[in-house]
Amino acid sequence: MERRSFVMALAGLGMAQSGADALVEASPSEAGPEISKHLYGHFIEHLGTVIHDGVWVGPDSKIPNAGGIRKQFIDDMKRISAPNLRWPGGCFADGYHWRDGIGRKRPRTYNYWQHSMPAGLDHTETNQFGIHEFMRACRLIGAEPYVAANVGSGSPREFHDWVSYCNAPAGTVSLADERAANGDKEPFGVSWWGVGNESWGCGGDMKPAEYAALYRRFVTQFPVYPPKPRLVATGPRGHSRDMDLGWTTGFFEAMREHRSPVNGFSLHYYTDFRNGRGRAPAFDAAGWYAVIREGMRTADVIAKHWEVMSRFDPRHRTKLVVDEWGVWYSPGDEIAPRAILSQPLTLRDALHTAVTFDAFQRHADKVAMACVAQTVNCIHSLFLADGGKWVRTPVYSVFEMYRPHMGARSVPLRIRADEIAVPADGGSARMAGLSGSASMIGKRLTVTLTNPSLDVGKKARVRVAGGAIAEGRGRVLTHENMQARNSFERPNEVQLAPVRVDLREGDAEVVIPRQAVVALELRIS
Ligand code: AHR
Repeated sequence: MERRSFVMALAGLGMAQSGADALVEASPSEAGPEISKHLYGHFIEHLGTVIHDGVWVGPDSKIPNAGGIRKQFIDDMKRISAPNLRWPGGCFADGYHWRDGIGRKRPRTYNYWQHSMPAGLDHTETNQFGIHEFMRACRLIGAEPYVAANVGSGSPREFHDWVSYCNAPAGTVSLADERAANGDKEPFGVSWWGVGNESWGCGGDMKPAEYAALYRRFVTQFPVYPPKPRLVATGPRGHSRDMDLGWTTGFFEAMREHRSPVNGFSLHYYTDFRNGRGRAPAFDAAGWYAVIREGMRTADVIAKHWEVMSRFDPRHRTKLVVDEWGVWYSPGDEIAPRAILSQPLTLRDALHTAVTFDAFQRHADKVAMACVAQTVNCIHSLFLADGGKWVRTPVYSVFEMYRPHMGARSVPLRIRADEIAVPADGGSARMAGLSGSASMIGKRLTVTLTNPSLDVGKKARVRVAGGAIAEGRGRVLTHENMQARNSFERPNEVQLAPVRVDLREGDAEVVIPRQAVVALELRIS
């Protein structure tokens, strides 16, 4: 169902002679901002089996662990240099009282997600995984902690005490001594603090001005211990069919006359295929393209909210923090009944991940951090875990492919390729036939390209404006079956493979198979 819709004037770019389907030109001399490593961040919540079983198996488990943290989780997160970890929620955060998760005797408490559990399954929170265990996980991985505080049912005092407990040097306030007595003499050094979560919904059902008033009370008198705090206010939902610019406008309007710092403004952007719109493992061509096209809309969502923010904050002291994103399908395909919101991720979700990262990178000046929702056993996961079983999803491979972009400078990429016409609900739609992003560090240029077509591969000629490519290698993620996925039984069904890169007259040539992501590492002479 693919159709050439227009032909670019490519002769001047040498495309006609090259016989390529696409010309991709990177311009390192126009390099933009550094791509923060934090764009490839993570989110784990006390929800279903994300923490209990996914991350935390307990020190007495037969499953290999480090102080109770699943070892496989640590190893795989280290391999992709996971830069941050957001915790404890999500909706759970606004019902969480941090004191329940410290010390030897921990209470069993109500968990927000209890209402979603199938009848007969207990989801009482045991509180075995608290701030010390979370910090252990962060240290073992090498990730920075991002802690979401309880605004919905907590108080400024509870928040400030938590900050002191985490960051005050031992021997100063009593809370620091208590932390030391609980096993951590050194301060945790938490810099990223989320002030509530989805305060328009599960975090308190507030209007933007109500939340803004509370936000100010929560951040005023914030205890000043190192490191410098980065305070993230609750932002809008930004679901694919409703961007909720009203929340962004309302919040910044209510903050206009005030001095409280807002370093980050959270944005949750789910490609929302719930309510019968789609199942994770089974879909047709229209479903394939719909998900990838929604992923591409991430750029638009960022741009629209940024535009509103510019009106109130022209110097852009506040950056966006996309601390929840991913594809969310209808229920029914969970890996186990208690693993609510878990879903099997396919090649389609890997391509969605790639186009989402491209959007973040192209907006590297606006987005300070992004966290996938959620890293294990929930929505857009990199891992699925069930007792002793563990598998990396195709999404994980894309995190691996994009890792070289971390800390490099974003480089404009001009892609000349035909648009494609694709099947869509009740008709057809058009979309980019090839998309991607690039970055440069030293002499290394990384180019990541996505070919969404279910029908044809594309030969791409990659060129560097004002330079020549001296060496190149690449990796590809694809599968002949668009619904392919990794399972506990077949963990390597979808995996990375090398792709051939030919050097021609200072350019690189690569054939990008249909339904594929390619990552090229090129050395510029
Ligand atoms: O990621 C699952 C849930 O989605 C989070 O708890 C909440 O913040 C969002 O609605």
